[in-house]
Amino acid sequence: MQTVTLIPGDGIGPEITEAVVKILKEAGAEIEWDIQEAGADVSEKEGSPLPQRVIESIKRNKTALKAPVTTPIGKGFRSVNVALRKELDLYANLRPCKNIEGIKTRFDNVDIVIVRENTEDLYAGIERKIDENTAESIKIITRHASKRIAKFAFDYAVKNNRKMVTAVSKANICKLSDGLFLECTKEIAKNYPDIEYREILVDNLCMQLVQNPEKFDVLVLPNLYGDIVSDLCAGLIGGLGVAQGANIGIDAAVFEPVHGSAPDIKGQNKANPTALLLSAIEMLKHINQQDIALKIEKALYKTIKDGNILTPDLGGISSTKEFTTEIIKNLK
Ligand code: NAI
Repeated sequence: MQTVTLIPGDGIGPEITEAVVKILKEAGAEIEWDIQEAGADVSEKEGSPLPQRVIESIKRNKTALKAPVTTPIGKGFRSVNVALRKELDLYANLRPCKNIEGIKTRFDNVDIVIVRENTEDLYAGIERKIDENTAESIKIITRHASKRIAKFAFDYAVKNNRKMVTAVSKANICKLSDGLFLECTKEIAKNYPDIEYREILVDNLCMQLVQNPEKFDVLVLPNLYGDIVSDLCAGLIGGLGVAQGANIGIDAAVFEPVHGSAPDIKGQNKANPTALLLSAIEMLKHINQQDIALKIEKALYKTIKDGNILTPDLGGISSTKEFTTEIIKNLK
């Protein structure tokens, strides 16, 4: 039995968490959940959306499954997600984007893995108002973070039988910062002669992704480009409802969907739990429960391929609960 931190989040978080926990239980996953609430409601009660107990729980268990948490727009409220990644030094954001049979999309051969640097770039949050009409935001790129994310991308490629890593930048404009990022990816690439190494500018990448996504394999990107390109790639495979993710560090890993708390459909029993379920499947592989992971993967893919019971975002008319019940039925 493995203890895993579970953050049900807010918005649609609790609904999709309930679905995923039920599916994992029915599949026989050997997990004891350490449930830790975080987010806006907690902030009112405990003074912080991310109390120290949540961090301590993840440090203790080393693995967490996290549903989305709302970050109110405005001053003085640090994003729980950015804070969590920083506190635990979860430096690699891994987002595999692969077509799922049964989901109609423009392309049917997308199989891209995004490796996004998670700790610096414009997300360092160093901003200031110079005067009433001018603001500046500082983009931080370091050799240390760039080399370790490049190494992560190449190691992932080797481990997962991938053939090519493409480093993404805007080094023609950000000559020093993105230039340093590319200097590091190039240097690391030399240690992996069996993996093809390429470079591309982020604007050109976006155009090519919506024309020929099959040309790409593993992409390694600084934080901001990684954030934007992740959503683009989620769109290529059927939208946010099916886009999974993971934040990985040396000592801990937090598995979570790409999407947010979707306040527009909260409490309506129509959220798609697939992205959280795919994240949970990756988590099961991470904690060496591969058999259970594959069993759930098969049931999920069968449910989607059959196409009879689907949530509205996938073109269906079924509820979160009906979709969950169908997956459980397909586990047998
Ligand atoms: P969002 O991802 O919550 O929603 C965008 C659109 O996608 C909405 O129309 C929503 O209904 C739909 N959608 C998202 N997930 C879905 C699902 N599982 N099933 C069906 N439809 C789904 O993005 P938005 O509205 O920009 O953000 C809402 C809140 O979530 C914000 O407070 C934001 O800060 C937070 N957020 C949290 C994240 C996290 O906890 N990792 C990540 C991204 C945003």
